[in-house]
Amino acid sequence: MAKKKSEEKKEESKEASQPQAEEVEEKIVDIEDLPFVGPATAEKLRDAGYYSIEAIAVASPQELSSVAEIGEATASKIIAAARKLANVGGFETGDVVYERRKKIGKITTGSKALDDLLGGGVETQAITELFGEFGSGKTQICHQLAVNVQMPRDQGGLEGAVIVIDTEGTFRPERIIQMAEAKGLDPDKVLKNIYVAQAYNSNHQMLLVDNAKELANKLKREGINVRLLVVDSLTAHFRAEYVGRGTLADRQQKLNKHLHDLLRFGEIFNAAIVVTNQVMAKPDQFFGDPTKPVGGHIVAHTATFRVYLRKSKGELRVARLIDSPHLPESEAIFRITERGVEDK
Ligand SMILES: Nc1ncnc2c1ncn2[C@@H]1O[C@H](COP(=O)(O)OP(=O)(O)OP(=O)(O)O)[C@@H](O)[C@H]1O
Ligand SMILES: [Mg+2]
Repeated sequence: MAKKKSEEKKEESKEASQPQAEEVEEKIVDIEDLPFVGPATAEKLRDAGYYSIEAIAVASPQELSSVAEIGEATASKIIAAARKLANVGGFETGDVVYERRKKIGKITTGSKALDDLLGGGVETQAITELFGEFGSGKTQICHQLAVNVQMPRDQGGLEGAVIVIDTEGTFRPERIIQMAEAKGLDPDKVLKNIYVAQAYNSNHQMLLVDNAKELANKLKREGINVRLLVVDSLTAHFRAEYVGRGTLADRQQKLNKHLHDLLRFGEIFNAAIVVTNQVMAKPDQFFGDPTKPVGGHIVAHTATFRVYLRKSKGELRVARLIDSPHLPESEAIFRITERGVEDK
């Protein structure tokens, strides 16, 4: 009898912890949901890089007809349907934007001081850019957030899964285990909720955002919400591949598209987007002012929260919020220990 009661209670609390608002999120569709797109056509489209409704919506009928080996008239119909679904170029009414913004969640960094700096934690539906020199803690914070986002809401998490786009091969499951154990979480479960992909170059990195969308859709159908997407590092491939002055505009354009794709992901899935960006420590070196990270203005304008990290004594790190539209520019001190990100 007593057992039954406790079971009932468990059921109840399970229900209570289910976020109600999440159920009415934007309807998510696969390319197979489009008219005239069967499995064979879908495969051809994906092979040609059309992973999402959005990609098809902005394609030309000629392009689509040649890659999918279909008539142009059919291609036009597919594009028209995709445009309707993707809302490309469309406008949203203020109430729709408001409804979406009401669902913004916050993930604790593990440090109260750092959370306060960010206005309560790392926000969903926004890009948070962590920039600073090597060893300043960018990758450590990413790992910590990948653990923390999985925690219950009353502990600063969002009960969500994580996608990591790792461009430098610095994702360390061993570090996740350390941090999960420090939080009293089951490290196996935590690792199973983190989906990691290596990006081999900047184009691949951009493509992985489409793949991430597919994965997040699939997980959503299984009742799992992706609440954090990490790109560590956002800029390393771009910096390595686009060197001369002549290619700079090209780089910025690509980076701009990439960031907008990421932001869109954040909005569709109500996920936090966290990207890292390395800067040189010495102001007189190649990239100038250390608070002016690679990527320049475009990254600056798209990232909603820009956090400049620097090393201090030993475990201590200093974070400064740079030109945030609605939070004061201030600093927070935190520590990186074996347990992870903590207050000083
Ligand atoms: N297990 C651990 N225990 C304690 N401190 C650790 C541990 N792992 C990493 N750190 C700390 O984190 C630092 C590395 O930080 P991190 O890798 O986040 O730097 P980063 O900003 O990503 O640098 P880069 O630009 O090279 O990618 C180490 O120098 C150390 O101080
Ligand atoms: Mg790093």
